[in-house]
Amino acid sequence: MSIIEARGLSKSFLQAVKEPGLKGALKHLLVPRNITKIAVQPLDLSIEAGETVAYVGPNGAGKSTTIKMLSGILMPSAGSISVNGINPYKKRMENAAQIGAVFGQRTQLWWDIPIVESFSLLKDIYQIPEPVYRTNLDQFIELLGMSEFIHLSARKLSLGQRMRADLAAALLHNPPIVYLDEPTIGLDVSVKQKIREFIKKINQEQHTTVMLTTHDLGDIEDLCKRLIIIDHGSIIYDGSLSEVKSRFAKSRVIFFQVGSPMPELYEQLAQTDGMKLELQSEQEFSVSFDRYEYTASDVVSRVMRHGEVIDFRMEDANIEQVIKAVYDGNLVLNQSGQ
Ligand SMILES: Nc1ncnc2c1ncn2[C@@H]1O[C@H](COP(=O)(O)OP(=O)(O)O)[C@@H](O)[C@H]1O
Ligand SMILES: [Mg+2]
Repeated sequence: MSIIEARGLSKSFLQAVKEPGLKGALKHLLVPRNITKIAVQPLDLSIEAGETVAYVGPNGAGKSTTIKMLSGILMPSAGSISVNGINPYKKRMENAAQIGAVFGQRTQLWWDIPIVESFSLLKDIYQIPEPVYRTNLDQFIELLGMSEFIHLSARKLSLGQRMRADLAAALLHNPPIVYLDEPTIGLDVSVKQKIREFIKKINQEQHTTVMLTTHDLGDIEDLCKRLIIIDHGSIIYDGSLSEVKSRFAKSRVIFFQVGSPMPELYEQLAQTDGMKLELQSEQEFSVSFDRYEYTASDVVSRVMRHGEVIDFRMEDANIEQVIKAVYDGNLVLNQSGQ
């Protein structure tokens, strides 16, 4: 059995339908009207111990709702979950001992006490043995560069400092599973780097299973071998990152900078199968094309027939384009990635 297993897992919320203004509010009070909002459609998940999985999708796709159900914060509307053999919602205490969770949008630290005191409270709550606590604390302070702010209260920390402290807090008790929901949101590059290094290290050294939600494609490339894409509450791709990339590598992109706009070319490309135009500005555009149908020189010579080309460059597929293509339905993949 996988360390994280979900079968037919789904969640709907009742949402109030209110007309705007005071009148609407009063009307709702008298005759409440609700609609059912499906945040997660019945889905299946199996994650093996030691995996690092990126769980990605557009805003509102259902990522946080899934993570909250897996971590026992939310009760599923239907379906079953087993995390390390435990139903996380029914056995919340037992579950808390085996997971760490970081929600980028809000802290789990006590707002008004020094970080190091928060850590010490967690030591008591999780009954972390003294030597384990000492070793972890020293290592985390070093790896995450926390020494200069560990004596400040959470209230006084910058976002980057707070996120590092939150990450450390979530892992002090050596949980075998960690859920990270947007842990790098709004952080600068150097802090992101520290956080990524840290996650990589605990995954490699402790075999910690990591499920990560992020909009940062660098996080995914750096940390995750497996990619799960969710859209409108359903999983639309679950497979290896390298596979989705190599599949996407079927198409290539050339960026052009031209002397003046080329309306006839744009029209022509719109009608050509296997080529797709994207305008960046008046004098810049990109053409993506199927490399098995056309060569780069086919594309370049076609553009040059319509006017002056000042510059062009070719780019390999990056993960951003891959995900966009999956969202846009331009890259059709089934769940097993075949
Ligand atoms: N407590 C809630 N009550 C009502 N609707 C909710 C609640 N939480 C989430 N939703 C809705 O469920 C959908 C999925 O939300 P969420 O899981 O937060 O998405 P994501 O994390 O992928 O951005 C959204 O449409 C959101 O508005
Ligand atoms: Mg979210």
